[in-house]
Formats: sequence, structure tokens, C-alpha cells
Amino acid sequence: MNADRLARALSGWPPPVLDPAGPYSEPVTRLAWALLLGGFGVLAVVIAALAIAIWGGPALKRRLGGDRAIWIGGFAFPVIVLTALLIWGLTLTSRLSATDPIAGEMRVQVTGEMWWWRVAYLDESGRERIRDANELHIPVGRPVMIELASADVVHSFWIPRLGGKMDMIPGRTNRLRIQADAPGVYAGQCAEYCGGPHALMGFVVIAHTPADFVRWQAGRTAPARPPESAGRRLFEQRGCAACHTVGGTAANGLAGPDLSHIASRRSLGAGILPNDRPTLSRWIADSQALKPGNRMPAYRQLPADELRAITDYMGSLK
Ligand code: CUA
Repeated sequence: MNADRLARALSGWPPPVLDPAGPYSEPVTRLAWALLLGGFGVLAVVIAALAIAIWGGPALKRRLGGDRAIWIGGFAFPVIVLTALLIWGLTLTSRLSATDPIAGEMRVQVTGEMWWWRVAYLDESGRERIRDANELHIPVGRPVMIELASADVVHSFWIPRLGGKMDMIPGRTNRLRIQADAPGVYAGQCAEYCGGPHALMGFVVIAHTPADFVRWQAGRTAPARPPESAGRRLFEQRGCAACHTVGGTAANGLAGPDLSHIASRRSLGAGILPNDRPTLSRWIADSQALKPGNRMPAYRQLPADELRAITDYMGSLK
């Protein structure tokens, strides 16, 4: 796979850290910088003390090596700094992990699967409104409460520019808030080793202006009616429908990502490949060559005309 195409598909992969774009990642970034720079400061002082111990003259050593240095450098300084960092870290954690609802916030459920993301947009009562996979559309300036679950093993949800990082643990629901302050595309990545293609479990958040978001939402809530076609028939006959759902058709499999709007997604294979026709066709015929170990079987036996028809059908599902 060509690195340039990969970079284009991902718009900024690897996800930049320490470059916050919202109120839930800014404080994390501040703390990270304080730890990093403070750590370097302490390292510099320790190296200086070591240098003095090795090369310093007797007068200098006597002046710096008394009991006072031990009390200040070895006791007072660590106690004060570590206590301050502990208080900072704990208050930040409790603020970021507060789960009391905020007026007007959006609710989404994201479930980690081996090795992709199931996404459900919820209404106020927690009912699923829109189903999608591998990407999340949000309006700017509005907090989004993400309910994190796992269908199999432990994954970890992380969009570094929009919020903190949170594990997705089977059997429980963790909550993480994110928010984007400017429209754009924000890359994410599974941050907990979850088996073979863990490194290829990417994610994309698309932040829209409020008006664009309303348009996007209207497009997704309108009932889908894909026209009859050869590709649609083959999709249902050749086994694809056993694992994938296409809204408005007989395909209602739940094992793999929902494909009702596959053509409008930014990427294929969970954030790792550009969503263009050649890649789509290669993915259908042999996804194992593109994302080794993923759970979709290869369909190398598909005759060329059938592969073309299914690719056309997928490409029409906007
Ligand atoms: Cu999912 Cu690592």
C-alpha cells in the first residue's frame, strides 16, 4: 500500500497528539506538557549535580553538598511537586470523566469490534437513530457523550485532538466526552492492543458546522431505497448479506460494518484505506491482502463481472 494514498485517506494519520482542538483535549495537553517539560527540568538538575560530583572543585561541592541540599532537593521539592501534580491530575480526571448530562449534548454509542468500530447515534431516550461504522459525524461547538462498549476484547478509543483516551471493556459501558471547536477531520486510533490488525484499527471524526450537520443528519435519517441492480442481487446471493446490512434491502447481517452509506465514508477498512473504486474492488476480492487478519473472508473466486457489479452497487450507496 502506498504511503501517500494512506496519508490522503486518513487526513492526518498518525493522529497528532499535543495539538488540541477542543475543550476536552486542551487540559490533557497542558498536563502532558507540564509533565514533559518539568521532567526535562528535573533531568537537567540531576545531570548538573552528577557533573559537579564528578568534576566539581572541593569548595563548590562543600557549598552544594550540605544537609540543606538533601532536605530541599531530596525531600521538600519532590513532596511539593508530586503533591501538586497529584492534585492537578485527580481534579482533571474527575472533571473529564464527569458523566452528568450537559444540556444539548449529543449521545453516541461506539462499540469496539475486532478490528473496526460500530457506531450508533442515540436519541435522548437512548434509542438508536442512525447506524454507521468507522467514522463519527459531529457538529462543532457541541459536547458529544460517547458510550464506549466492546463486543469482544479490550479496545481503547482515542481521538487525541478532541478528548482523552478511554478503554472499551467487554461487559461494561465507559463514558468519554469529546468536542471539536472547528470543522475538520480528526483521526483516531485504537490505543489498546487487541490482536492481529490492532495497528490498522483507525477511526475518523468529521466535525461539521451546525448547518452542515443538520443536512448530514437529514440525509441519514431519510429511509434508504437502493434501486434494484445486478450488484444488489449478487450482494444478497454471494454471502455478503449474511454479515452486512444495507438499509432498505434484504441484507441485514450484523457481524460486519453496516454498509448502507459505504460510498460516502472517507475511508475503507476502519480508517486505513482511501475509499475509491480500485481500493473498494480490491477490498471485496481480497481484503486479507490489504488488512491481514481481518474477519472478512477473501472473495477471490468472484468472476470479474460479478466483482464489478458488486463494486458498482457499493459505490452507489451514498
Ligand atoms: Cu482495537 Cu486495538
